[in-house]
Amino acid sequence: MNTTPLRSEAGAISGPTLVLLHAFPLDRRTWDAVVGPLAEAGWDVVVPDLRGFGESSYGEHGPDDDPSLAVMAADVLAILDRLGVASAVIGGLSLGGYVAMELLRQEPSRVAGLVLINTKATADTETARDGRLQVARQVLAAGDTKALARAMLPNLLGVTTHAERPEVVGIVRSLIESADPAGVAWAQQAMAVRPDSLADLAAYIGPSLVLWGAEDTISPRDEQNLMVAALRDGRLAVVPGAGHLSPLEEPAAVVAEIIAFLKLVRHPTMGG
Ligand code: MLT
Repeated sequence: MNTTPLRSEAGAISGPTLVLLHAFPLDRRTWDAVVGPLAEAGWDVVVPDLRGFGESSYGEHGPDDDPSLAVMAADVLAILDRLGVASAVIGGLSLGGYVAMELLRQEPSRVAGLVLINTKATADTETARDGRLQVARQVLAAGDTKALARAMLPNLLGVTTHAERPEVVGIVRSLIESADPAGVAWAQQAMAVRPDSLADLAAYIGPSLVLWGAEDTISPRDEQNLMVAALRDGRLAVVPGAGHLSPLEEPAAVVAEIIAFLKLVRHPTMGG
């Protein structure tokens, strides 16, 4: 029986741990350009494929698990347990940020620091929820994610990337097209029912970085301001020339901001 529903990539865990959770509808390859430099800075970097994406199966309970971010967060905690990591800095990009906030609801003591990248803490409007359920139905009916890639690409990447980084556009297209329609539909349903997380951010006492791509129109600046205002120990950093997928668009700048932040975080210890 599969007791480890998520596939994740990590070297031997021996030091402070940073977990990076990818965006929708991508997978852990989101972090390919940042893992090396962050590891060189002395951090063990764990990059899971969230449930239904990349190499992650739905796990031992099968796809019948009700879609929810709570399930995704529990999967991440199971990885930490498996690795023997008591607490880690949790970083999340968009969907990954929603899961990081869910981790705060479930086990705040295991979150040694928070990096929220191009995400938001507010719940969906009714219209946004309906849109997600429609996308879920469409990808399941289509049986592939090609149309989804066409629909999402214009907004996922910033204007600078569209104008100057055709290779990044190609990488993101192929990441989306490789996504499993069933995983995409499940995640859309999970995100549709996510609660507002501002109170959870306000209750969190650890250090936090809110990292925003200046050209991100999906998670706008107002949402970043709300999160920074809610956090007790939060700071905002802006990545110029990047949109919603800044770790793919401007990886060097994202690495520099995360490393500067990690220097402020007391190193989380390992151990069960
Ligand atoms: C993401 O990049 O993960 C998505 O924009 C999240 C969402 O659909 O709200």
